[in-house]
Amino acid sequence: MRHTQILTHNWLFTHGHEVPSKLSDGHDYQHVCLPHNAVDVPLSYFDESTLQQPFTYHYQLQCSKDDLTHHLIMRFEGALSDAHVYVNGTLVEQHADGYTPFEAYLNPALKIGENLITVTISGEENPAIPPFGGRIDYICFPGIYRPVSLSRFDAVRIRNIKVTPVDVLTEPTVELAVYLQSFASTDEPLELQAALFTDDGELLKVTDWLDVSGSHQPILLKLAELPEISLWSPTQPTLYRLMVTLRGDGINDEYQCRFGFREACFTPQGFWLNGEPLKLVGVNRHQSYPYIGYAMGKRGQRLDAEIIKNELGFNFVRTSHYPQSPDFLDRCDELGLLVFEEIAGWQHIGDEVWQQASVENVGAMIERDWNHPAIVLWGVRINESPDHHDFYEQTNALAHELDPSRQTGGVRCISDSELLEDVYTMNDFVLKDSQLNPDGLHALRNPSNVTGLGKEVPYLVTEYAGHMFPTKLSDNETWQNEHVMRHLRVLDASFANPNISGTIAWCLFDYNTHHDFGSGDKICYHGITDAFRVPKWAAAVYTSQQDPSERPVLKAITYWTRGERPEAKALPLMILTNCDRIEVEVVGHVRTYLPDRTRFPHLPHPPIIIDATNQSDLPVGDWGYDWNDLKIRGYVDDLEVCATTLAASPLPQRLAISQQCEQLQANNNDCCRVVLQALDQQDQRLPYLRDVVRLKCSEQLQIIGPSQLAFEGGCIAFWVRGMSPGAGLLAIHSSIFGTQQIAITVVEQEVSHG
Ligand code: GAL
Repeated sequence: MRHTQILTHNWLFTHGHEVPSKLSDGHDYQHVCLPHNAVDVPLSYFDESTLQQPFTYHYQLQCSKDDLTHHLIMRFEGALSDAHVYVNGTLVEQHADGYTPFEAYLNPALKIGENLITVTISGEENPAIPPFGGRIDYICFPGIYRPVSLSRFDAVRIRNIKVTPVDVLTEPTVELAVYLQSFASTDEPLELQAALFTDDGELLKVTDWLDVSGSHQPILLKLAELPEISLWSPTQPTLYRLMVTLRGDGINDEYQCRFGFREACFTPQGFWLNGEPLKLVGVNRHQSYPYIGYAMGKRGQRLDAEIIKNELGFNFVRTSHYPQSPDFLDRCDELGLLVFEEIAGWQHIGDEVWQQASVENVGAMIERDWNHPAIVLWGVRINESPDHHDFYEQTNALAHELDPSRQTGGVRCISDSELLEDVYTMNDFVLKDSQLNPDGLHALRNPSNVTGLGKEVPYLVTEYAGHMFPTKLSDNETWQNEHVMRHLRVLDASFANPNISGTIAWCLFDYNTHHDFGSGDKICYHGITDAFRVPKWAAAVYTSQQDPSERPVLKAITYWTRGERPEAKALPLMILTNCDRIEVEVVGHVRTYLPDRTRFPHLPHPPIIIDATNQSDLPVGDWGYDWNDLKIRGYVDDLEVCATTLAASPLPQRLAISQQCEQLQANNNDCCRVVLQALDQQDQRLPYLRDVVRLKCSEQLQIIGPSQLAFEGGCIAFWVRGMSPGAGLLAIHSSIFGTQQIAITVVEQEVSHG
């Protein structure tokens, strides 16, 4: 029977490479938990070379005689990069890619008693390993940064299963491929059974036991004539479970996965889900976090998906530019957030050996993730690389062979590029491009001009904005207005053209990068949120496209001050909203304004813009006149659904604290995000407040990053991790708002077995 244990604790870590057959006394190792970031860096202005070093992890493993009658496999979900795994000094596995999982079969070098598992990794940007060899606009943080598990198997195990729902709109059926692995040759009879459950565990269908002794791989099964099935969609992401059981003499194994029934297709007439057109409104996500690089645990990974779908209102995410955490993808499945997942790479294509490694990465990504209903497209080109017929013929062929149920894309930035994929996926930065768009009329390029194919093909815009207009959370109002305007214009152009399946904004949050990019502080300020996922104004472009029944949105794109803008102008005043109309009130004068369908005819919910064309007597005055409160009320179907007031004279009123959760596990990687907002008397942020907050936590908790933080844009956000069980307390002291305290209980880590 399979037994799996997650190996979180008791790892030893050191700089440099060392492969002893046993640990020597007196070496000063650091005791660490996984996932682990080999080098924690400051938020900004760090030296990239500190990351580009060799590192070693050790784990002492006790093996009994009984253990050795079984088969032990250590699975690494992600280690960056060039991992070598040794048992008692003998190399048992090697895996270069930093983003896909790998397994080490330990038995050949194991002995009864104490064994030393050693894992060496390298932060060096080795040009032989994708994505390295050129310059890269992000940091690849080294470490064993995803979980590691140890499983004990009988002589045969279920290595993987592929669940392909077919005919989902007419007669939902499950096609199942089961991949077995035998550790030793056996003639024993083997039988296999598959069962379909709801996500809550209600059994819906079970097959007969099937004799699979000596069967060819993979073993194919079908589950047909199913009871009523609910489809998976962004609004109703119904999930099911498939469990496969294997039995034989002394052999038992079980494998289960979640999946969903849905039909997804990119066509020349846009993207279709379950037979209905759906405009994709997406965002690019990197997987890094301030200070801890890639080593964020499950709760933090899941939160990103929740922010993207629930808080910001996107229906699509691209895992730029590599396969991302299974925890993130699981949450996408649960939330109904569609995903475009791609292999590791950035502009550069290496030699043939490098390309072969990249082809293998396609296989590893697809075999890991083919059961996620959220994933609707595989990215099988190196992001923004030039055409390369032979290489991309291979990546496409492999993707189609492994998973004929999904289409391929491959992100490019060149026009007239050879289309070997199913979808022409293009980064379009034409807006305000002085050469391609000198009169500034176009927000997106015309697909047929881009592809040069003389016919419409499935087409998706995979990046826009980003480096064309870097914007900080604390930037001034004029700058942030332009940031908002650019996102609005592209989104409107996407909705205007039914040939465009959708757009994916660059990008979700500000991220750490190399010195060849960004603002000199090793940060690219390209996010619609800052590095801590605090929304900038441009985020409300997307929030305001949601249906008002989900959440009415009323976001005034102003700090509402007399003198923040050039020439002390209060107008134009933009309000991002999904209301039918708004009322604006200044010193008792009330005026009604409607969404601007002239400038943004295609958006589901255009912004409302108050300017010289539609306001004549709103008393907003001029330099030297009175300055008054601004009140805005939003109406849907003649009902007031939301209201906001911007104070003429904002004063610090309260420090709003929101904490993601009240309980953490004591495992170092379970993290709670805390957001502090300095608010005025109308609950608006005080963007220019200068104050330092001091954080102090009890021993059960640890703050990720510094414990003294300054407000930026009226906000401070950080993560706290659970260290040891008990009643954790976090005191937050501000010289302006005084001291407040929040409680986070830390409990023992759940023991997970399989
Ligand atoms: C693209 C690239 C992204 C990011 C973006 C910035 O060229 O694919 O990774 O660098 O530019 O706008």
